[in-house]
Formats: sequence, structure tokens, C-alpha cells
Amino acid sequence: MKRAVVAAVLALAACGHTAGAPTAPTTPPPAANEPDPLRAAAGAAGKLVGTAVQSAFLNDSRYAAVFARHFDYVTAEYEMKWDPIERTRGSEDFSGGDAIAAFAAARGMRVKGHALVWHQAVPSWVGGLSADDLRTEVERHIRSVASHYRGRVLAWDVVNEAIDDATLGLRDSTFRQKLGDRYIADAFRIAHDADPQALLFYNDYGGEALGGKSDAIFALVKGLVDQGVPIDGVGLQMHVRAGAPPDEAGVAANMRRIAALGLRVNISEMDVRVGDIGGATPANLDRQRSVYRSLVAVCVAEPACHAATFWGFTDAHSWIYAAYGADAPLLFDAQYAPKPAFSGVLDALMRR
Ligand code: G3I
Repeated sequence: MKRAVVAAVLALAACGHTAGAPTAPTTPPPAANEPDPLRAAAGAAGKLVGTAVQSAFLNDSRYAAVFARHFDYVTAEYEMKWDPIERTRGSEDFSGGDAIAAFAAARGMRVKGHALVWHQAVPSWVGGLSADDLRTEVERHIRSVASHYRGRVLAWDVVNEAIDDATLGLRDSTFRQKLGDRYIADAFRIAHDADPQALLFYNDYGGEALGGKSDAIFALVKGLVDQGVPIDGVGLQMHVRAGAPPDEAGVAANMRRIAALGLRVNISEMDVRVGDIGGATPANLDRQRSVYRSLVAVCVAEPACHAATFWGFTDAHSWIYAAYGADAPLLFDAQYAPKPAFSGVLDALMRR
């Protein structure tokens, strides 16, 4: 059933409409020199093209216009996480996520919820809970959020970043310490029960190509599939550096082995840093363009990869600055002019 839903979504995306959404004009009239919309190229390739957003940015008309013109898949960068929703125990605030979902619905975009269970962005009151109370609250949280957005999201990142980089075993989060390893399978079962139509993803970073972390992620999701847990796919975050990107063949092989489990795969949070190789010089922006082109092309070529999402689209807004300092990691510059990176993505989507 879910497989049919996605096929229908992608087929209708290809002809510029999305199932059930009001047929509002999807993109504002383009200015004379506006580049071709990414979403049209993605639709023609049978893919969704997405970005992370924050509701506050939607009040900026330039931001909203570029976002609406080029993207048909949206992930809430922060506002659907546990902490912003339930900073105070028992009192939920869905306003930020609702604003993003409403903007998307009005423009024929699909939504990916992010993220139901993650060791970060957890409300402060969660840490002090007993194991029994934590189990109750995690279940209540998943059920509440998934049913609140039921019918408005195509997919959820159910569990995010559960693999420990050092041990390559399960991260020793409060969830694992108090609920055991089974917290992951339980989260998928509860999310599926709360929204049987949503596609359910495991999402992680640093495991895009073949290697230790990628093998650990593969073993985790294969284990879930073997147990019959209702998982539908894997999100490869793709936070990469232009100076040392993951190798294309390795990413293709990794996507292929995940597909062989009967799962979907998607690029879920892509950005390409240039800060550590000298910043936004013309040569580095060209390297960045070729990294975006080659890695998005891997997704375009892989039938099981149904979406490529960037973790923001304009250098006006990116988490990279707080984490790594000055950079220019995205497709448009801070004045919303398309960068070479944008052409790289468009070329990949148009298979050229
Ligand atoms: O919204 C509040 C604002 O009201 C307040 O004035 C401001 C200053 O304290 O904070 C704002 O909240 C911040 C939020 O981003 C929105 O900007 C949070 O403090 C900050 O922690 C949050 O950071 C997000 C981070 O995840 C933690 O949730 C980043 O935007 C977001 O890009 C980042 O995304 C993660 C993915 O979810 C998972 N993979 C890695 C990726 C990068 O870390």
C-alpha cells in the first residue's frame, strides 16, 4: 500500500500536481533570468527535491518565493523535535510545525517529519524520568505527534543518529540506558500504529559510502527488517566537505544494498562545506558544484532513492556557521542568487 502511495506521489509530482493538495499555483511567476525550477526537474526524474526550513524564515518573501519555486519536499529543521513541541511536560506546542505543514500543503509540497526519537533536542524534564515513566512518555510523545500530523506528512524520521561514532555500537543515550536496545524497534512499531500510511525512516550521518559506520547502520536496519519491524527506509544525511566528499561508487553501493533489503533510501540533510578549504573562492565553489552534482546523481540513478533533501537552501541560514564557522554550504547565496552548486543539482536531476 505505502509503495503505491509513493509511486502515486512521484507520478503526480512529475506532472506538477500532488494527490489531495488544493491545486494552488505551485510556483510564483518567474522573473526573466530565473533558473529552471528544481522541482520540475526532480519530478521529471521521478524524485522529490527537498529542503529543511524553519517557520520564522517563511515570513521573508524572498525566502518563501525561492523555497516555493524550487522544492516539493520539506523537513522541519527544528520545530517538529521533542524539545520545541513539549518544553513543559504535558503542554504541547505544534505551532511551528503546523505553519510549515500549512505552507507546504498550500503549494503542493510533501512533508517529512523530523525527528520523533533523537538523543538531542530532548526536553530537560525527560532526563530525570524513571525507566517506566520514560517508556510511557516516549510512547505518548510518538503517538501524539504522529497522529497530530497524520495525513499531512509523507514520511517520518522515527529514530535519528542511534549509532555511536566511536564504538559503532548503539549510542548510549538515555533511551538506550533506560529502555534497552529495543527502544528503536518499539519506536517504529508505535509510529506505524499511530500513522499506518507514513513512511518510516532511520536517519543518520557519516554512513553515506561504505565503511564502519555505514556497516553499523546497515546491520541495524537489516536487523529491524529481519524482525519484521515496520521500517520503510534509511536517510543518509550527507553533511559533507567539498575537500573530502564520500566516494560516489561507495554511496551507490551503499544505497544499492539498502535497496536490496526492500527499503527506500534518501539523501536527507545535504550540505557541502567549503570553509575548511579556504572558503567560497570560484575554484572551491566549482568543487562544491561537482560534489553536489555527483552525489545527487547517485540518488537519481538509484530507483530506491526517492528524494534528495538539502539542510537549507540559502547561505543566509545554515547550522554550519554555529558548528564550524564561516562557510557557504548551500545552493543559493545569502542574496538568493543561485550558486554553481545550484547548477550542479539541476544537472544531476536532469541527468546531464
Ligand atoms: O528557536 C529558538 C529561538 O527562539 C531562540 O531565540 C534561539 C536562541 O537560543 O534558539 C532557537 O532554537 C534553536 C533552533 O536550532 C532554531 O534555530 C536551538 O537553540 C538550536 O539548538 C537548534 O539547532 C538545530 C539542531 O539540529 C538541534 O536541534 C539546528 O537548527 C539544526 O540544523 C540541527 O539539525 C540536525 C538534524 O536535526 C540532525 N542531523 C544533524 C543536523 C545538524 O546538527
